[in-house]
Amino acid sequence: ETAVDRAVAAFRDGNPVLIHDAADREGETDIVYPAGAVDAAAVAKLRRDAGGLVCTAVSDAVAEAVGLPFLEEELDHPAAADHDLTYDDRSSFSLPVNHRETFTGITDEDRALTIRRLADAATAVARSDGYGTEEFAADFRTPGHVHVLRGAPDLLADRRGHTELGLAVAAAADLPPAVVVCEMLDADSGGAKTPAAARAYARRNGSVYVEGAAIVDRLG
Ligand code: 5RP
Ligand code: CA
Ligand code: ZN
Repeated sequence: ETAVDRAVAAFRDGNPVLIHDAADREGETDIVYPAGAVDAAAVAKLRRDAGGLVCTAVSDAVAEAVGLPFLEEELDHPAAADHDLTYDDRSSFSLPVNHRETFTGITDEDRALTIRRLADAATAVARSDGYGTEEFAADFRTPGHVHVLRGAPDLLADRRGHTELGLAVAAAADLPPAVVVCEMLDADSGGAKTPAAARAYARRNGSVYVEGAAIVDRLG
């Protein structure tokens, strides 16, 4: 059984996996959950054990159906004019949202609710039961505290960020195209956790650690 198989099995069980993109890309390891499995305890774990930005990636098809754009295409501030990322062609950021039943949106309970409802929205779109932009706007407001990321249209053939790597694992697990990602930072230095430190964390916690290259080989 490969690490990719174990990652797919973990997702099916609602458990998180650790995904390292590539040494020549961000060189970061994200804790990644299937969005439908995220409760307040999972958000607390992302805050404490990962410490990066809590984001929910949805597929290009879901984002298109509910009118969630790539943020960089919507902004006309000059700071958005030049996207000079050194490790990829573009950012996957879309809008930050809160479910309308949240209060401030930032608490563990609030973020977990927003994230699970995003998974529900992805499921509704995938079933093509008429869930679109109007329905999404009735359920969510923006700005909010959960950053939505929009996957590349052809997933791993297009882009190999945590956005697409996570969505590829969800697809292999037959789960809706919605995954939560959060970068693992070293609690003391604030720098990215090294792959060795992320692997050690995985061993201590009985989690799966998988390399992006293995996901691309197996699921790309
Ligand atoms: C949002 C990010 C993270 O890097 C996240 O992993 C998604 O981005 P990417 O798909 O580019 O890896 O910047 O916090
Ligand atoms: Ca990033
Ligand atoms: Zn990333």
